[in-house]
Amino acid sequence: MQIPTTSADTATIDHDFIPEIELGLLAENASISPKFLYDPLGSHLFTAITLLPEYYPTNTEKNIFTQYQDEISEAVGIGGTLIDLGAGNCQKAESFFDTLKPSNYLAIDFSVEYLQDALNKLAGKYPDILMQCIGMDFSKELIIPDSIAKTKRTFFYPGSSLGNFLQSEALELLSQIKNQANDGGLLIGVDLMKADSVLMAAYDDPLKVTAAFNLNILRSINSHLGSDFRVDQFRHKVKVNHADNRVELYLEALENVTVSWPGKLRTFKKGELIHTENSHKYTIESIKQLLINAGFESSQIWTDPKNYFAVIYAK
Ligand code: AVI
Repeated sequence: MQIPTTSADTATIDHDFIPEIELGLLAENASISPKFLYDPLGSHLFTAITLLPEYYPTNTEKNIFTQYQDEISEAVGIGGTLIDLGAGNCQKAESFFDTLKPSNYLAIDFSVEYLQDALNKLAGKYPDILMQCIGMDFSKELIIPDSIAKTKRTFFYPGSSLGNFLQSEALELLSQIKNQANDGGLLIGVDLMKADSVLMAAYDDPLKVTAAFNLNILRSINSHLGSDFRVDQFRHKVKVNHADNRVELYLEALENVTVSWPGKLRTFKKGELIHTENSHKYTIESIKQLLINAGFESSQIWTDPKNYFAVIYAK
């Protein structure tokens, strides 16, 4: 991993994901890591999901940010480095630039091409903020380069992306954030558990944008692995798993399918599933406990009237 030295420059990303992908595809219960959802098209499809009326997290979080902007800004404080995890199109962080007044903005995402584009547009608008971006798979390990000032690091992790990690992985990531925040903190958005009907509409929307987003992971895998997945041989499937407090996304084979790639193949029987994503839903108590377990000592929490979503500043 490299850190760029010039404004809105790009670092390189390690593309050697083949062993990890093969392990998932060849397992009895096949799976693909959700990070492969975010190739350039997948990132645009995710942005489209956030515009769907059924996908409540984005709007609910935005309303909390707007309603409590002063309180949130007071809790976080001004200046320092804003470190945006999973920055995407950088819009959420931008909405805090005027109130938090960071001197540095470090945008981190898996899909660096998409990120670079977004950052280039932003850099011209905010000449006083030094902007940098890194392509990083922080689901493995989060390492903030030493060249980034150690004082007042505010990690920004909105959009309930923490929910895409297993509990143990979420704990590990939060601990890594706590260890590298020093005198700063973490501003995070988490999705709360709610009725199945609301969850199903959000993750299986009638326009089928989420279906396209999920199916596109097969094309993303084809480009990494040289495999020959055909998206028309699978369908998007959603389950709410109450035992594990999460929504689960799958791709179901519509017929018997054989997928091959250099040196290997995998057969999927009709009806067989590939697990592509978990989206965990928290309660206020469960997220508070997780933050404590990760070493955070205090948290301030803001929610919406329906208690769909929580924004938390933890130190
Ligand atoms: C990015 N992440 C928080 C989204 C979620 O809700 O878990 C990804 C997503 N998957 C389907 N729709 C949105």
